[in-house]
Amino acid sequence: MKGVTVISHPLVQHNLTRLRDRETGPQEFRRVLGEVAALMLYEATRSFAVAPIPVTTPLARTLGVRLRREVVLVPVLRAGLGMLDSILQLIPHARVGLIGLKREETTLRATFYHKSLPADLRRFEVILIDPMLATGGSAVAAMDLLAELRVERVRMVNLVAAPEGIRRVRAHYPDLPIFTAAVDRRLNDKGYILPGLGDAGDRLFGV
Ligand code: PRP
Ligand code: URA
Repeated sequence: MKGVTVISHPLVQHNLTRLRDRETGPQEFRRVLGEVAALMLYEATRSFAVAPIPVTTPLARTLGVRLRREVVLVPVLRAGLGMLDSILQLIPHARVGLIGLKREETTLRATFYHKSLPADLRRFEVILIDPMLATGGSAVAAMDLLAELRVERVRMVNLVAAPEGIRRVRAHYPDLPIFTAAVDRRLNDKGYILPGLGDAGDRLFGV
């Protein structure tokens, strides 16, 4: 699928399998989700622009690089929080924006309840983070908010994606790069991803 990168690294796939397993409880789920998020981030940030800078080692001067732009991480509440801490360990200088969305159980429509984002999003590299891309309603709603703030460089990281969700996001945001560990089979009649891993928020927080 164009613009979709499936991260097939063995450590990512090993951890995804632990998360899929219904016997994995909240404590282990939290730990493994964090680990897999950090691994996925390497791939998701591979194309970040860098600028050359001189650096002096104890022995000589040489040329190094620094990230050209500041980074804003935007986890979608709640489940996106499960991927945040470990990513912050890799990019400690990143800012954090939050978008709160809750999918209504029967209509599957995403209802917005919270937003805190930098106003000048245009100058940042933005990473939208949510473990699940199911119908795509939440991802499109989150992207609509970012687009209102004129975001220019954004990519999305989802642990598991459904083909239906990818198609919906593509229809609205054809150029959004999507990084995922798996494109699963399909949605069931309740809008859950098959095989998926169940309700990510519930499994993460135990409620
Ligand atoms: C889950 C998940 C996504 C959304 C995906 O969140 O974390 O945000 O569902 O579904 P969609 O693609 O059909 O919109 P949920 O709304 O259950 O909220 P939670 O994270 O607070 O549990
Ligand atoms: N949200 C989840 O947490 N899991 C799914 O399978 C679909 C939406």
